[in-house]
Amino acid sequence: MTDPTSQANYTEIATEHVLFKWTIDFANQIIAGTATHDLRISKNDVGEVIFDTADLDIESVEVEGKSASYEVKPKHPIMGSALHINLPSGLKSGSLIKATIKYQTTKECTALQWLAKEQTQGKSFPYLFSQCQPIYARAMAPVQDSPSVKIKYSAEVTSVLPALMSAIRQSPPSDGPAHDGKVIGKDAVTYVYHQPIPIPSYLIAIAAGNVVYRPFPRHPGKEWTCGIWSEPELIEAAYWEFSEDTARFLASAEEIVVPYRFGVYDLLVLPPSFPYGGMENACLTFLTPTLLAGDRTLVDVIAHELTHSWFGNGVTHANASHFWLNEGWTTYIERLLLQVIHTPADRGFSFIIGYKGLQDDLEMYVDRPKYQRLVIDFEKGEDPDDAYSGVPYDKGANLILYLERTIGGLDVFLPYVRDYVSTFMGKSITTQEWKSHLYGYYEKHGGAGKIKALDSIDWDAWFYGEGLQLPVKMEYDSSLAESAYKLAERWDSSRAVEISKLSFHESDLDNFSSTQKVVFLERLQSYKPLPSSHVEHLASLYKVSSTHNAEIRLRFYQFSLADPSSPVALKYAAQAADWVIGGGTGMVVGRMKFCRDVFRAVYKVDKDLAVNAFQKEKNSFHPIARKLIEKDLKLPS
Ligand code: BES
Ligand code: ZN
Repeated sequence: MTDPTSQANYTEIATEHVLFKWTIDFANQIIAGTATHDLRISKNDVGEVIFDTADLDIESVEVEGKSASYEVKPKHPIMGSALHINLPSGLKSGSLIKATIKYQTTKECTALQWLAKEQTQGKSFPYLFSQCQPIYARAMAPVQDSPSVKIKYSAEVTSVLPALMSAIRQSPPSDGPAHDGKVIGKDAVTYVYHQPIPIPSYLIAIAAGNVVYRPFPRHPGKEWTCGIWSEPELIEAAYWEFSEDTARFLASAEEIVVPYRFGVYDLLVLPPSFPYGGMENACLTFLTPTLLAGDRTLVDVIAHELTHSWFGNGVTHANASHFWLNEGWTTYIERLLLQVIHTPADRGFSFIIGYKGLQDDLEMYVDRPKYQRLVIDFEKGEDPDDAYSGVPYDKGANLILYLERTIGGLDVFLPYVRDYVSTFMGKSITTQEWKSHLYGYYEKHGGAGKIKALDSIDWDAWFYGEGLQLPVKMEYDSSLAESAYKLAERWDSSRAVEISKLSFHESDLDNFSSTQKVVFLERLQSYKPLPSSHVEHLASLYKVSSTHNAEIRLRFYQFSLADPSSPVALKYAAQAADWVIGGGTGMVVGRMKFCRDVFRAVYKVDKDLAVNAFQKEKNSFHPIARKLIEKDLKLPS
């Protein structure tokens, strides 16, 4: 069994450590430098090492300090170009060998987005950031780009703007003067980083721009530190949004699992084109600025990303087929943190919201039922981004929740969770390995009764089941959802009533949290679409089409576009499209959860509107988002 998305020969020889020496060239939009791999041989007489690359210019290769012959194979559309490097003969299993590749990135690089200064908050300096998960690290550096390979790394990055990486900063100090006291945007400074804990390649990350740091207060009794990075214009807001909760969540997660191993847990708020809500890059979670809602209501994303420190960054899925081990477990624990820090009702509420997303995604895949599965049998070279959806998150979290309940509740389940994490910390595993350990644990710590409980689970249905249903009907604490459901029901039953006779008020939402507003708007979508007059009335009463809370705004657009041929759908389709392309500012809403969903909804109303809006700002989207939106809008790429 090898990774279906990689061409590397990591089962024969694998990187243990890589040193990057990079120069960031903002003018030409390239990173140029070297990657030096320390490789451990695991097969006698291995004749070559194969790295994954994508659109890299390879200049030269050295093995053990001597020029070596190599070949860059033709590009596979998804997996990229395998770089074969010849090795000297007679290599022994167990020994180490060094290979240095001199290279630079190219304009085609899918991992990096280079922003013009106009696309940043400050409008004064350009900005660069990476996104390597799932298979784009190879577009930034030659690596064995499989999560089965875990590597340490060091980096020396020379840049005229402050540079951040997913590792521990060695110099200059984070809390010292910005850019080591040199002139920002002009003087070159070398930033040195070290990641002493082996991580999968998809966690290698870089960002460079006019960013500043503010540490969060130390958490009593903890060695690790937390803090936040952003452009100076946002640092106040970003600090306020996350300073209360980050360390508290991290400390709670340590109680549930085992101590945090990475030493530093920092956050970086990126420009709006960042394609995800959050990305758990080691030591430095990347975040979308749409989380700065001003009311701390979107901190569950922080809970999610920091939970990856154990599930994903600690215990890692062996390859794309087992991606749910990362996201399903993380989602389950994220919601447990909500229960611990807030209330059990918050946990249930989060499952309710997740369930709606799961249903939508299962429906989206009716014609590709293979992606409705939790464990996906990828063919070699299949694009894991085609399968990216809420399925691994919510089918996964529901499986773990079902397991928790089947085995007898948290008291007997949490000790197992700890054992699971301790057993596989630092390793990469498959679903089968996960399940064997589970059985092994309860054989030892529970006996026949527990094994019988485990045997009652229809594993095949959970792992390989297709269709729109979960294998079991799940019940969640719905106390926080009731008021939202009731209000939605009132709107539904008012559809025949004239607007002037309706008894809705702006104050209907007064006691609603923003998440309850989300659930209200989602619930409305479970009914037949309301008449346009009612949608307009709702929009003007509740101001949901102009809110700064992107979660609410997305749900309003989905609700108002539900009947594609209605007049309101046309009106709000135009507004929705304008929202995600940033209204001509170049500051697109690049988080794919928002922009892809909006483009898809607008497309159903008016294909040309969706396509034209996208074409206008196409180059402002991150290359990954661009690629996926092109697929959604059925455009040639
Ligand atoms: N690791 C994911 C993001 C990701 C997954 C990037 C696969 C590329 C490929 C991250 O932890 C995540 O799940 N982000 C979510 C946040 C959420 C579920 C709270 C997102 O961006 O929406
Ligand atoms: Zn995640």
